[in-house]
Amino acid sequence: MGSTVAIRGALLDFVADPFYGPEAEAVRYVADGLLLVRDGTIEAAGTYADLAAGLGDRPLIDHTGHLITPGFIDTHIHYPQTGMMAAYGEQLLEWLNRYTFPTERQFADAEYARSVAELFLDELLKNGTTTALVFAAVFPASVDAFFEAAEARHLRMISGKVMMDRNAPDYLCDTAQSSYDESKALIKKWHGRGRLLYAVTPRFAGTSTESQLKLAARLLDEFPDVYLHTHLSENVSEVAWIKELFPQYEGYLDVYDKTGLVRARSLFAHGVQLTDDEFRRLSEAKAAISFCPTSNLFLGSGLFRIEQAKNPEHPVKVGLGTDVGAGTSFSLLQTTNEAYKVAQLRGQKLSAFKALFLATLGGARALCLEDKLGSFEPGKEADVVVLDPQATPLLALRNQEGMPETLEDLEDLLFSLVIMGGDRAVAATYILGEQAYSSKATNL
Ligand code: GUN
Ligand code: ZN
Repeated sequence: MGSTVAIRGALLDFVADPFYGPEAEAVRYVADGLLLVRDGTIEAAGTYADLAAGLGDRPLIDHTGHLITPGFIDTHIHYPQTGMMAAYGEQLLEWLNRYTFPTERQFADAEYARSVAELFLDELLKNGTTTALVFAAVFPASVDAFFEAAEARHLRMISGKVMMDRNAPDYLCDTAQSSYDESKALIKKWHGRGRLLYAVTPRFAGTSTESQLKLAARLLDEFPDVYLHTHLSENVSEVAWIKELFPQYEGYLDVYDKTGLVRARSLFAHGVQLTDDEFRRLSEAKAAISFCPTSNLFLGSGLFRIEQAKNPEHPVKVGLGTDVGAGTSFSLLQTTNEAYKVAQLRGQKLSAFKALFLATLGGARALCLEDKLGSFEPGKEADVVVLDPQATPLLALRNQEGMPETLEDLEDLLFSLVIMGGDRAVAATYILGEQAYSSKATNL
């Protein structure tokens, strides 16, 4: 498992967070670069001139004229919702009842689940996404189907069984005890197997009793390196409803906090309605947020306050999430496009470098995987995406000059990809140094 290859092209990654210092110091750009990969691990990244001597007899893959970045990381997505994107007309709570729950029911069927999981992974790779934090459905077989498909492709993926024991149709409900037992069995089966990792996944406070949330926390105590993955403060009616369901708590985040779920390996999707105090608390706990702009706009949830999340006085780890099926694209480049517009609507600017950081090293940090993913630092796993700045006639017109020499020109080219990019901008995707997708060899 894992290839020994060399990949040539323009290399772009991050050595620091561009939200907290001069961007030029956070970015690493090598116009004519070489990535040396041994057994799926990055051995060296630098200029072609410096590293060509160390090529040995490994195959050289030439992506000259293309931009090579670390694989994209999607910090929040639902694989069972792949077939229900573009569900019309509802906001969160009605959308869940009308579309989502009936759709997820189908994932009791392991064979169906496996076929959707395969299509889902094809889509991720085609869009340059190499790692994702993924909701499965409530059925343990839906988790098995997903992990089996991911394992066969050697992907680093995080997933878990949805826990929900109230306010959903009977056919989707577990109980506090069964959700604990089934999650525990799945953790033992999958967590740390190859590149796979487990996330304890209560859907959200609206569909869990207090005892279910407390049992979820018990799993985190018993398995300290598994994740917690849930939704938080997405929509105004949802926040009001959570207050009714949990009157004894101070607010939405406090429900998770007092039940023991706010930790360093906890990732909360959305956070659109968070108060300043709640951002402060997330920072203190070193928990992370997934910013899901296409979904937040599609469901009319609102405009995430990224500058508040990234406030240097109480920094919160932030990654990007597509949140398919409420999200409208698998592409993290389309997600940065919408993130930019959300920032604009709030009078803020999201630079091209900040946007790419969120999709790569920022996502890795949000998932506590920065020792393995997110940049070209030697020793990290060689999951890589190759972007073609001239992939479409419009991009070719916009980027006539080819690969830039200066950071200023690079920022302009990158911005075109951050706004106009999508699956067509992805020329190839490599997993552990092995080509897992190529725009040239596909009918996807
Ligand atoms: N909140 C609870 N469940 C869901 C879901 O499936 N999608 C989104 N966007 N929000 C949720
Ligand atoms: Zn979601």
